[in-house]
Amino acid sequence: MLVLGIESTCDETACAIVRHGKDILSNVVASQIDLHKEYGGVVPELACRRHIDLIIPVIDQALNQAKLTLKQIDLIAVANGPGLIGALLIGLNTAKALALALRKPFIGINHVEAHLYAAIMSHPQDVQFPCLGVVLSGGHTALVLIKQIGQYELIGQTVDDAVGEAFDKVAKMLNLPYPGGPEIENLAKHGRSVKFNFKAGQVKGRPLDFSFSGLKTAVLYAIKDPKALKETVLLSSEMTQDIAASFQEAACSDIVKKSLLAAKQYGVNTLLFGGGVTNNCYLRKLFSVTNSNLNYIWPSAGLSLDNAAMIAGLGYYRYQLQNKSDSMDLEPLTRTPLQSVEE
Ligand code: KG4
Ligand code: ZN
Repeated sequence: MLVLGIESTCDETACAIVRHGKDILSNVVASQIDLHKEYGGVVPELACRRHIDLIIPVIDQALNQAKLTLKQIDLIAVANGPGLIGALLIGLNTAKALALALRKPFIGINHVEAHLYAAIMSHPQDVQFPCLGVVLSGGHTALVLIKQIGQYELIGQTVDDAVGEAFDKVAKMLNLPYPGGPEIENLAKHGRSVKFNFKAGQVKGRPLDFSFSGLKTAVLYAIKDPKALKETVLLSSEMTQDIAASFQEAACSDIVKKSLLAAKQYGVNTLLFGGGVTNNCYLRKLFSVTNSNLNYIWPSAGLSLDNAAMIAGLGYYRYQLQNKSDSMDLEPLTRTPLQSVEE
């Protein structure tokens, strides 16, 4: 079965073609980073306009690279949430139009679930369930018990900022360009992680939940005197590197600690990772040195940041499970939880 996937939830316009849920024939991502860089973050209205310009050329490119025509596609899969409303509408309406014109089925896919599926897709062997899903992206931070593809239990999540968002905001405070995650990681290589005693937040009575907003504020206070917050401070490069390293250590060690606690509590020995922050090598290393008895399944290159291959791949499985096309009434959902199939 050939599935054409469409992703437009935030600032990436992407289309991919995947055979039988795993075999990636093309994976085209048009990033909008340059467009948003000068504003220090994603500007939703600009993102939507760019999606409109890019969506058809990106689909054409994905078909060309796979040496296929639209007529050969069996199913259209599209991320219909969570994400920015205008951005979602463009991908979703394109998918509906294609499905109508081609008389082919289409299916709406949860973007966060697809980030977890990206790790499954990256793994050559079959994944043994149950396992723990760890979603670390710019919009989401969550721990999910995965009983099967399509059967989930949310066991922890952030109560404020997502971890990628915290990386981006700290980078902005340090006058680094968007997206901040890779910038912080690079600077941190030269900094001392013990220089500042930053700590991520703990949520009372909910040991598997995350909180990064206090950590972000602690970084702000390390940069600026709280009484003079509005004044611009010039930091030495040494200080910038130390802040980056200390922040990264605090955020990553919190993720490792809570993920391992969840694995122990739920008796799972395989962890599946998804989302852009999983690109962080320091985080990957910290997991492997902290507990090497667990199986870690990371998304491969091209599948950690937003992409449409993960949408097409998961679309294949979800379509087998629900066995029918979604209706043309399918709505974009700006906020939507992971939904299990039986719900
Ligand atoms: O999964 P993703 O592409 O988009 C969302 O669904 O949000 O993740 C983007 C996020 C951004 O916040 C970016 O700063 C972060 O992933 N990121 C990183 C790294 N590469 C990307 N964070 C830390 N270290 C990295 N190397
Ligand atoms: Zn994402």
